[in-house]
Amino acid sequence: MLRPTSLFFLSLAGANAYIWPSPMLDALESARFNQDGHNSDPVSIFITPCTRYLLDPDLDSTTGRSDIADWVRTAYHDMATYNITDGTGGMDASIRFPAENLRPENVGDGFNNTIEALGELVTRYISMADSLALGTIIAIENCGGPEIAFRGGRIDAGGPNTPGVPQPQDDLDSHITDFARQGFTQTEMIGLVACGHTFGGVQQAPFPNIVPVLNDPNNTQSVTHFDSTSVNFDNLIATEYISGTTQNPLVAGSNDTTNSDKRIFGSDGNVTMKSFADSPELFASTCANLIARMLDTVPKGVELTDIITPLPVKPYGVVLSMSGDILKLSGELWNMTADAQRTVNLLWDDHIGGGGNVTMPASGVSTGAGGRYNAAWYSFAPLPVDGPTFLSLDTAAGITNMRFVVDGKLEDQGGVGFAIQDGVVFSETSCYTSNLPPTPEWRIDVAVRNGLNPTRVYLEQIGVTDSVGRVIVPQTDIVPPAQSVPLNANYSLWTVNVTGENFYSIGFEVDDITFSESDSHSIFSFSPCTT
Ligand SMILES: *[C@@H]1O[C@H](CO)[C@@H](O)[C@H](O)[C@H]1NC(C)=O
Ligand SMILES: *[C@@H]1O[C@H](CO)[C@@H](O)[C@H](O)[C@H]1NC(C)=O
Ligand SMILES: *[C@@H]1O[C@H](CO)[C@@H](O)[C@H](O)[C@H]1NC(C)=O
Ligand SMILES: *[C@@H]1O[C@H](CO)[C@@H](O)[C@H](O)[C@H]1NC(C)=O
Ligand SMILES: *[C@@H]1O[C@H](CO)[C@@H](O)[C@H](O)[C@H]1NC(C)=O
Ligand SMILES: *[C@@H]1O[C@H](CO)[C@@H](O)[C@H](O)[C@H]1NC(C)=O
Ligand SMILES: *[C@@H]1O[C@H](CO)[C@@H](O)[C@H](O)[C@H]1NC(C)=O
Ligand SMILES: *[C@@H]1O[C@H](CO)[C@@H](O)[C@H](O)[C@H]1NC(C)=O
Ligand SMILES: *[C@@H]1O[C@H](CO)[C@@H](O)[C@H](O)[C@H]1NC(C)=O
Repeated sequence: MLRPTSLFFLSLAGANAYIWPSPMLDALESARFNQDGHNSDPVSIFITPCTRYLLDPDLDSTTGRSDIADWVRTAYHDMATYNITDGTGGMDASIRFPAENLRPENVGDGFNNTIEALGELVTRYISMADSLALGTIIAIENCGGPEIAFRGGRIDAGGPNTPGVPQPQDDLDSHITDFARQGFTQTEMIGLVACGHTFGGVQQAPFPNIVPVLNDPNNTQSVTHFDSTSVNFDNLIATEYISGTTQNPLVAGSNDTTNSDKRIFGSDGNVTMKSFADSPELFASTCANLIARMLDTVPKGVELTDIITPLPVKPYGVVLSMSGDILKLSGELWNMTADAQRTVNLLWDDHIGGGGNVTMPASGVSTGAGGRYNAAWYSFAPLPVDGPTFLSLDTAAGITNMRFVVDGKLEDQGGVGFAIQDGVVFSETSCYTSNLPPTPEWRIDVAVRNGLNPTRVYLEQIGVTDSVGRVIVPQTDIVPPAQSVPLNANYSLWTVNVTGENFYSIGFEVDDITFSESDSHSIFSFSPCTT
């Protein structure tokens, strides 16, 4: 589903200097930092609590499986095809192709389960590969692990990559060679395997020669775990190994051929594992670095964004719509703070040298990155809370820019403000002539501000993917009316007839700059046409 992030963005805004609005950075930031509570992203539920497993109705899974373990494994297996010599493979969600995930090196159903859950994050701005990276970070941060730097901008592959995932029966030389091809030294290989194996274990069905059937009602899929805290990020993977008490089936397995962790962990005389066992802090910081590097291992030519850091204050879910003579503005302000009791004012500028000033009521609280960040939210809709969910603006004056004052402190992005485009907005006169499935007939009305002269106004179809599952946004031009149809004193009506049950956003182009609405529309929210 589409999740509104903010209204009419500049779609070519620079990826690095993040001045709101920047649609992609805004979306990545929300997915990364709005994890729990108000406006939280749709995937944290799959790992809350950390014992959770997608296919188990119990919150504390009795399968022995966990989503967190599947998500981390999926990211590694997706990355493991990387070839540092020619820059092919890496984090590109090629693991989603059956031709890749049905290979012997990718045995098990954890990849499909991961893609099903993390697919919820995918939008026009967030690729499946970014979503796999985010899933790994969210899982580790929320289940006792360190904060991990996240960059966005991964691009989903158009087909499977060449094989490249190490397997338990491979010998040490082959493991060292594989990790070197992926860009990791022998010491880093030890670290990455230990970091990855702080969650999860080896499941019996796909690995019947490594682990036995357990006949345990609390572990119905017979997963022999790598350490005794398989849903917690901690250094027990190292302490149990060093103390010789480990049950890790890739160390203590009865068949030495498949004891790959034993060969890898011992390959430097236990120096690295000893250092992890001695220092949970060193283990955590090493994992934060190695996991970030793993996730940032992308095909040659893919440019990642800077590290996504939360803007302390930003608008969220901003939507404008036209209702007769009223321009409705809805949305919220996100302030990263533990204190929900701030006094917050929205100030705005309009087209005629004036503006407004309203007090924003608190609308919720949320947390991110395993509770490291807290955000308080404030609504554009004025009090009372059971009143309208929008702010009514004067149509003639409109709105051009917003600023916020939080406990007396002006937040205006260093003077530029938070730009907002009211030139082309959805009109609530939109309606349907037939709502009979599967081909209902309806009409999207668009209000275009007089004097704006957009080069193009068009519909963007939402929820469409290409033949290999990548999000695409097909456009349909809205033909300008032959004669201006006034909607009110300052806006004219452009209209397009639509058939079917699709979702559409409105896009437009002015002076070579493209804007996209964050909201989307379907017949399901429309009323019958009266004219
Ligand atoms: C990695 O790429 C190089 C250059 O194309 C190639 O020679 C080598 O065989 C590749 N390695 C693997 C394991 O495919
Ligand atoms: C994963 O899903 C694909 C269909 O998308 C299917 O072809 C494949 O068999 C599934 N893999 C497993 C291990 O179930
Ligand atoms: C299963 O877990 C529950 C709750 O932790 C525990 O009370 C019970 O003894 C366990 N059963 C077995 C067979 O270990
Ligand atoms: C040990 O594992 C290897 C690789 O799976 C297998 O070929 C071999 O038969 C196994 N040995 C025993 C004694 O089961
Ligand atoms: C590493 O430590 C384990 C557990 O103490 C021990 O069994 C093993 O022999 C050591 N390996 C090396 C290469 O020193
Ligand atoms: C919330 O807004 C206030 C006022 O602008 C700002 O000082 C504070 O840093 C913000 N909170 C955080 C955690 O950034
Ligand atoms: C906005 O209104 C508040 C009262 O709600 C007032 O205290 C504040 O000075 C006003 N700010 C500006 C810039 O006019
Ligand atoms: C709004 O419409 C009125 C009446 O046509 C016109 O005088 C005024 O200039 C318009 N305002 C803007 C900001 O375009
Ligand atoms: C939309 O359809 C109606 C008939 O239902 C027609 O009168 C109108 O001209 C059409 N509008 C456009 C823009 O094609």
